[in-house]
Amino acid sequence: MARYEIHGGRPLNGTVTISGAKNAAVAILPATLLVSGKCRIENVPDISDVRILLDILERMGASIAAPEPGVVEIDCTEIQCSEPDQQLVRKMRASYYLMGALMGRFGKAHVALPGGCNFASRPIDQHIKGFLALGADVDETEEYVALTPGEAGLQGGRICLDMASVGATVNIMLAATLLPGQTVIENAAKEPHIVDLANFLNTMGARITGAGTDTVKIRGVNSLRGGTYAIIPDQIEAGTYLAAVTAVGGNVLVQNVIPKHMECITNKLQEMGAKIINYDDSIRIMRTGRLRQTTVKTRPYPGFPTDMQAQICVCMALANGVSRLTESVYETRFFGYCTELESMGASIRINGKTATVTGVDHLTGSTVYAHDLRAGAALVIAGLAAEGTTYVEHIHFIERGYENLVEKLRSLGADIRRLEDET
Ligand code: EPU
Repeated sequence: MARYEIHGGRPLNGTVTISGAKNAAVAILPATLLVSGKCRIENVPDISDVRILLDILERMGASIAAPEPGVVEIDCTEIQCSEPDQQLVRKMRASYYLMGALMGRFGKAHVALPGGCNFASRPIDQHIKGFLALGADVDETEEYVALTPGEAGLQGGRICLDMASVGATVNIMLAATLLPGQTVIENAAKEPHIVDLANFLNTMGARITGAGTDTVKIRGVNSLRGGTYAIIPDQIEAGTYLAAVTAVGGNVLVQNVIPKHMECITNKLQEMGAKIINYDDSIRIMRTGRLRQTTVKTRPYPGFPTDMQAQICVCMALANGVSRLTESVYETRFFGYCTELESMGASIRINGKTATVTGVDHLTGSTVYAHDLRAGAALVIAGLAAEGTTYVEHIHFIERGYENLVEKLRSLGADIRRLEDET
């Protein structure tokens, strides 16, 4: 299998441009199912999750063109099918957004249960609770979820989520946009990609208010029309480069970001000793001296994102003193990478939801395995910071969500290359 070879120890310098947000793209692409007419979507990241989704939509009958890099034109008007290809659906987690989108479009859906990054048990009971509240009958097996209109038909409803689930908030928004009446989601997720999905849908004619707060209201409309929309920059990709500079050292301008989305991350990196300068749509980060220990607890937005847990752990592993890292969204997420970091010389003790990280002088190159997307990104950062050579295996996880990672890092002076599959 293909892998990355990294010769560590070279500071990162220069400018890197952040791509469109993966987690917004994987919600907005299924949302085009709700639109009559052509959607031109800009700032679409070229990553494998996006390619799979486009493939799924195309096989269902969508007309798709890519007139220039980062731009996709999608017209789902002719689609008649409410049962997407099972094999493709199983390849990625966010394919479960097809449930809400197809229910919204056809009033019914038959979607295989998704695959993707299984770093924790990832139930979808809150999505189902939402579909039921909108009047659907739900047939859920170990293999698939089938949605059909219940006896009273589909209509808006009120849903109070047990936890602020990103996926459930997105799926309910998709299912409710074209339903009669008003839907209210209480305890909704507030992540930037929720706001981006609402902005996309509203641009096409939806009536959604409150996205970005914990109450989202959706007043159903009869139809959506085509239009043009640009996806927001990827908060976690940007955070990953900021963490890389913090761990490795150097001076980098990270451009095409929304600095407000980055505050939960940059505040912590600053505490650790990185120097940050915010501009309108870019951030300069500099790090020269030794890092300081810190304490981080992951939380839903606007808290420190769970998707940055592994990357900041690498910074902690190289900081002066003892840091504490507490995971409050996915308890088992440490297991995806801490053992790998320890094989590089990190000192990490895990006790339930908290990892205690005792900083070391340096990490040493090793062969390590990515177990999921963000864990893999953290191992790349560790390899860049380490003395000697690191091989990162199972990079298909990383390529699900980082566009041109190798090229972007090489342009910053990193010594990393992708070794192709030799089998
Ligand atoms: N949860 C339930 N029941 C549900 C839904 C969620 O118990 O029906 C629990 C989860 O087990 C978890 C918590 O609620 O403990 C939050 O899960 P959420 O639904 O918010 O996560 P998600 O929608 O499955 C999205 C991102 C993840 C990111 C999380 C948290 C997408 C496609 N995925 O997942 O991103 O970690 O929100 O912010 O948006 C990644 O990009 O690497 C990634 C994994």
